[in-house]
Amino acid sequence: MIMTALKSYHLLNFMTILLAFLSARAVQSQEREEVYETGKMIFNTQCGTCHSVHKEMLGPMLASITQKHSEQWLIAFITNSQEVILSGDEYARHLFEEYNRTVMPSFDELSKQEIRAILYYLKEESEKPTGDWPTFADIEMNYSDNNISRGEQLFNGSCAICHFIGKDGEGPSLGSVTKRLPRPWLKRFIRNSQEVIKSGDPYAVRLFKNYDMQVMPPFDFLDDKDIDIILDYIEYQSASPPPVAGVNGRKTEAVMEVQQFDIDNKSMKKSNKMTFTIASMLLLLAGAVLHVFLMVKLFRYLLNRKKS
Ligand code: HEC
Ligand code: HEC
Repeated sequence: MIMTALKSYHLLNFMTILLAFLSARAVQSQEREEVYETGKMIFNTQCGTCHSVHKEMLGPMLASITQKHSEQWLIAFITNSQEVILSGDEYARHLFEEYNRTVMPSFDELSKQEIRAILYYLKEESEKPTGDWPTFADIEMNYSDNNISRGEQLFNGSCAICHFIGKDGEGPSLGSVTKRLPRPWLKRFIRNSQEVIKSGDPYAVRLFKNYDMQVMPPFDFLDDKDIDIILDYIEYQSASPPPVAGVNGRKTEAVMEVQQFDIDNKSMKKSNKMTFTIASMLLLLAGAVLHVFLMVKLFRYLLNRKKS
């Protein structure tokens, strides 16, 4: 009898620990969810008038941005972009010029934690589908330049297996890249990225590391004009109509599915957490009852021994 109780007691203890571990995991994923929601809320209210993750607006598209800069740089830039630009940071100065010296307001009232929440949101959001990009057929009527369709061909043929324009993929999103980096640099990188990385270029080295040292193949067979055409196509697509809203503002099925999935996922996590909590409580209660039972038995046993 005592042996069975003792065994069940150990088993119950073990299961309680296991459940505590699982519910800690559930809480952790809920915390991540909360950071995401906080980041999303701040982004939408403070940054959304000038930035989108999937599209160029007044400021650059922000897909893959957390892979392109160090966290330290991003926090400094978001806190006070002008300070970074005036400090002589070459990248920031170039960006400022390309965006016609549009001053991004400083956000020094945001705490580091809040900025980290925005960055977490940007990272997660970069991996989400962007809905349908308008195809060439949709934009043909207001775009007569044949180079765009040639650019689309070249891009689809050589780059699209690794790159999206509005979303992170095997390689970084290429949205706004023509404004973010000087063309001569881009041409050198596309022709032979490894050469640029090996030359010690800090931006290229960081990017390479953040993409798990994945080697982008050299495209030295593309001539200057072809690369220009690809870059023009990227520039054109970066600022095309909002992909998330789809053509004419209709939400695409893909986007709706993702949203439904998000909702399902969220309510599932909540109910998971409830189940874990209730089960842990019940197990703890049963453990406590058994514990008391065993203590009483032990106490009696000791008393009996003393008497005899
Ligand atoms: C008034 C418009 C505006 C607002 C609001 C704004 N930005 Fe910007 N942002 C810009 C512009 C324009 C640039 C390009 C650089 C420049 O002109 O200084 C930029 C650049 C950036 C960059 C560098 C991108 C790159 O490609 O390297 C980051 C990161 C950024 N913004 C994040 C944010 C975040 C986060 C917020 C909200 C807290 C925000 N911005 C709010 C206009 C804005
Ligand atoms: C096999 C996958 C692959 C292919 C194909 C590929 N890339 Fe890349 N690309 C990458 C990776 C990975 C990176 C990140 C840097 C690294 O790991 O070297 C990158 C980085 C870049 C960057 C730097 C982006 C930034 O924001 O800093 C540019 C520009 C670029 N690629 C353009 C192209 C173009 C244009 C093509 C087609 C002609 C192409 N890539 C084809 C994998 C690829």
